[in-house]
Amino acid sequence: MVKVFALALVSIATAISAVAAKDVPGQFKRLGACPTLGCVFPPDNAEFLAGAHFDVRVEVHAEDSDKPNPKYSLSIEKLKGSGHKNTNGNKAVDFSKFTKVKANAQETWDFNYYKDAAAYWKAQDGDKTSATPVHVASSAWRGVQLREPGTYKVTLKYNNGKKTEAIWTVNPVSKRKAKNVILFIGDGMTTPMIAAARLISKSHTSGKYTKKMHMDQFPVIGHVMTHSLDSLITDSANSASAYNTGHKSSAGALGVYPDSSATPFDDPKQELLAELLRRRSKKAGGRGGVGIVTTAEVQDATPAAVFAHTRNRDEKATIVDQMIRGENPVVADVILGGGGKYFHSKTGGKSLNGTDYYQTYSKERGYKVIHDKDALLKYKGSDPLLGIFHQGNMDVWLDRNVYKDNIKKTGSDPTGTGQPALNQPNLDQMVIKGMEVLEKRHHNSGWFLMAEAASVDKMMHPLDYDRALADLLELDSTVGKTREWLKKRKLDKDTLILVTADHGHSFDVYGSVDTQYFNSFSESEELEKKNSIGTYENSGWPSYEDADGDGFPDKWDVRYTLASGTAAFPSHREDFQINIGGARVPAVAKSVSHHHYKVHEPNSTEVGILKPGTLGVTESVGVHSLQDVPVFAAGPGSQLFSGVQDNTEIFHKIAEVLGLGN
Ligand SMILES: *[C@@H]1O[C@H](CO)[C@@H](O)[C@H](O)[C@H]1NC(C)=O
Ligand SMILES: *[C@@H]1O[C@H](CO)[C@@H](O)[C@H](O)[C@H]1NC(C)=O
Ligand SMILES: [Zn+2]
Repeated sequence: MVKVFALALVSIATAISAVAAKDVPGQFKRLGACPTLGCVFPPDNAEFLAGAHFDVRVEVHAEDSDKPNPKYSLSIEKLKGSGHKNTNGNKAVDFSKFTKVKANAQETWDFNYYKDAAAYWKAQDGDKTSATPVHVASSAWRGVQLREPGTYKVTLKYNNGKKTEAIWTVNPVSKRKAKNVILFIGDGMTTPMIAAARLISKSHTSGKYTKKMHMDQFPVIGHVMTHSLDSLITDSANSASAYNTGHKSSAGALGVYPDSSATPFDDPKQELLAELLRRRSKKAGGRGGVGIVTTAEVQDATPAAVFAHTRNRDEKATIVDQMIRGENPVVADVILGGGGKYFHSKTGGKSLNGTDYYQTYSKERGYKVIHDKDALLKYKGSDPLLGIFHQGNMDVWLDRNVYKDNIKKTGSDPTGTGQPALNQPNLDQMVIKGMEVLEKRHHNSGWFLMAEAASVDKMMHPLDYDRALADLLELDSTVGKTREWLKKRKLDKDTLILVTADHGHSFDVYGSVDTQYFNSFSESEELEKKNSIGTYENSGWPSYEDADGDGFPDKWDVRYTLASGTAAFPSHREDFQINIGGARVPAVAKSVSHHHYKVHEPNSTEVGILKPGTLGVTESVGVHSLQDVPVFAAGPGSQLFSGVQDNTEIFHKIAEVLGLGN
């Protein structure tokens, strides 16, 4: 089957090079991947799992005082030479006729966009005339399926003779190779971060490690390219959607192509991995299990991408509702993480319509609902499990385990008591319990578990590298314990494990810092402070040590730390030392500005050398970066993940391993 897949990719590549349109350079797009006035979603170059459901939307745009022409048509044809029989003799036929799906009634709406940076920043400074109005006529086809593998051309004809063409490829189908798949996502995790985490936690002699990370021991490693549909840098929503749908999307979008309409719930959807697993295994007499574990809010982008469909990842209250009452709800067997405030309406609560969703989940869907580590460890049942341990994102490993006083400062209890959530589980405890429940409920039909170490990213943003690396080490330790757990139960031969990330931050290490020398100078002695950075032969080794063997440094406030940083940051001060009192706040909004927008400057309570910002002045924290992220693979089907691949291919390969096509 591996061979078939490889052959198919060759034919796709040939088809693409023949006809695919190029992305148009420039910022501030009118509508994501639609450079012309006629838009087709899914767009050109989209790839499909045979038989997966998806929606189609076309939009016809007119700018300024023009009106969109309401007369347009959509056709589809199967291209010659795509390796399979042609049911329609290579003729373009009406899209509705071909797919046996009727379009909904034509809709119209208006929206505004900025033509370039000049127009955008004029608007930010208060000029209300710099936006360009767009008027739209649109149709949608919901729940389309293409079951026959091959290459298709879809053509939108509009404005009396204009054309937008999209080449779509439906991948060949294969037999299931693994019963279970575990997808670990270190949000924002990159190879340089793994190297830094290894350096501070693993023993080495004469420059060679005597112990490796658990990730280092995977047999297969590949690279993943992470661009968005319409921009070079991705956010977590559309990159997680690529893993769950096989389709690219835009920043903020979950399980949909973003259209230009105002509502965040009408965008054209794609069937999700979890939905496919539920639907396809039902057909085979079973019901594949789904588990979601995260240290973020369970409604945050990466976990929500497993079960939600919306243009706007910030619709967190509705996302809680979609899990159990969406159009085709996933109703995951296991949901563990933070995000309590979207489940209730008590202190700090923000649930949809003030509903008590803890009740809804337990009464309507039979979930066991728990809120602390003891209840998690004690649970031995086989009912679906909802464990919500924090109002927002769970506290990070360093605050959960080392600087515990920081947790006491917040009213983070997930039920809205206003008390701090002092008894939060660690990631490994959530993942092991998740696997226990999934095995109990779906031993025969198999399961898919997504487990996210969310705060690698959430701590890289505020440049809190110690907290980010500690959460990366927590992920690595969890990966090791997971493999042990599977092996003990002889499930390792049936289970594909992937460890990857959704995007990077431009973090790297370039030497060490003697913090004692650094701290001996006053704030004004910047040049002397900089001389505490040792490079090449003078970098020596940092002074972290893991004597107790738990996989984490025993002390974080050591003398020789890492000289590290990112390429994308607001103006801030750097001292290369652990922030003991809690997560870092590198920059703050200036109170007075001659502009209408907020300008950020270094947080005056931070000390160290001044690093003048490399970002736009409205940015308060660091941003994501371009570099490819690693994917480590072990278990049946793992060979598929070697080499360099697009993030959408991760979906298609998981679907191949689980046999989800057709
Ligand atoms: C929430 O309230 C809105 C407005 O009253 C209503 O349209 C919607 O159906 C409600 N949703 C739920 C899940 O109760
Ligand atoms: C500045 O950073 C300190 C921690 O170093 C933090 O307590 C404080 O809230 C930050 N200032 C602002 C305005 O956020
Ligand atoms: Zn991020």
